[in-house]
Amino acid sequence: MRIVLGVGGGIAAYKAASLLRLFKEAGHEVTVIPTEAAGKFVGRATWEALSGNPVSNSVFDAVETVNHVRLGQEADLVVVAPATADLLARAAAGLASDLLTNTLLMARGTVVMVPAMHTEMWQHPATAANVATLRGRGTVVMEPAVGRLTGPDSGPGRLPEPAEIFDFLAPYLAGPLPAGELPLQGRRVLVTAGGTREPLDPVRFLGNRSSGKQGVALARAAAAAGADVHLVAAHMDVPAPENVELTRVETALQLREATLQAAAGADVVIMAAAVADFRPAQAAGTKIKKRDDAADPVLTLVRNPDILRELVTRREEHDAGPELIVGFAAETGDAEAGVLDYARQKLARKGCDLLVLNQVGKDLVFGQDSTTVTILDRDGSEPETVSGSKDATAAAIIGRIAGELKPR
Ligand code: CTP
Repeated sequence: MRIVLGVGGGIAAYKAASLLRLFKEAGHEVTVIPTEAAGKFVGRATWEALSGNPVSNSVFDAVETVNHVRLGQEADLVVVAPATADLLARAAAGLASDLLTNTLLMARGTVVMVPAMHTEMWQHPATAANVATLRGRGTVVMEPAVGRLTGPDSGPGRLPEPAEIFDFLAPYLAGPLPAGELPLQGRRVLVTAGGTREPLDPVRFLGNRSSGKQGVALARAAAAAGADVHLVAAHMDVPAPENVELTRVETALQLREATLQAAAGADVVIMAAAVADFRPAQAAGTKIKKRDDAADPVLTLVRNPDILRELVTRREEHDAGPELIVGFAAETGDAEAGVLDYARQKLARKGCDLLVLNQVGKDLVFGQDSTTVTILDRDGSEPETVSGSKDATAAAIIGRIAGELKPR
């Protein structure tokens, strides 16, 4: 695959050298285009030696080969790492002020930006608006990692580790795709996300710790891979992506209805929502009051339907439905069995095609930005384990899903 690696002027430019090595080791042809500012951090000789190709940041070098047009036109994938606030702004504005921004305007393949900057810059409304503009145009913008920044401060804005970026790029590197074609082009993907809330009375509910981050990352990764995405969202702590169809729900029963309806036209269903297994038998119509003259209330719970199981059963009964149904398992393991044993049992019980296992606990997974997931299939072949940010693991899951679908 022909890759253009754009490098912005940030201290994290040195990490792009390791990313370049990973691309080369995987057999890709890479041309590096650093910005002028990137040259203050890593010199041209490093990029030329590692890529084996000449390096320039000027539209006036090698004019006889029409570099400013050719590099973008010929690239299957353009990756910008680190993408500074300045580069995101120039790309969003459509400027063509150097060789890299010319190439971004000419690019016909997928463009992936991997931002790195200080937290204040990343969270500034100007940067947020530029990221939204770029995503709205189909550019893939990876979420920055959370951690130590250049100075003593830390927060979101750190460039993810090269191996994480490489994993995130898996669906785009899977090739050989014709330039501009994406792995889930023309597929409809339904993702459920967040935690359901089961009302006790008009002001109280039974809920769970799901933040919706993993489901949102999956929806974003599926959209970035070219799919038409429908997100059925229960309660989430994070905003839904802009480029997906969105249905908001509250309870498990509402989630069931929205999911069954949307699943009818979907190629893939990803059940990432944390669905309450039980709901209060009755929700009080008015606020439950504590009273000194009566006994404290006792909660009676009833079972919610298992939506994942129902999707599988309906597909068997009608011999039609989504080609791929993906379940999630949140397991802690216990004295009787480990997390993998429980996940295998769940896969068999639910009958889905793939099961993504999250190991959960007090400080694990829920609301965290990074995670480790294990993907199991029905054949019980070697489970595949992926670690990294929720975006990176989502991209790996989407890559696996794309690989499981029958070619059209
Ligand atoms: N799920 C569902 N409907 C439910 C409960 C869960 O569709 N009523 C889906 C979840 O979205 C997830 C998978 O089933 O994809 C596993 O959910 P989990 O709560 O971990 O499993 P349970 O079926 O509740 O099994 P257990 O009680 O053994 O953990």
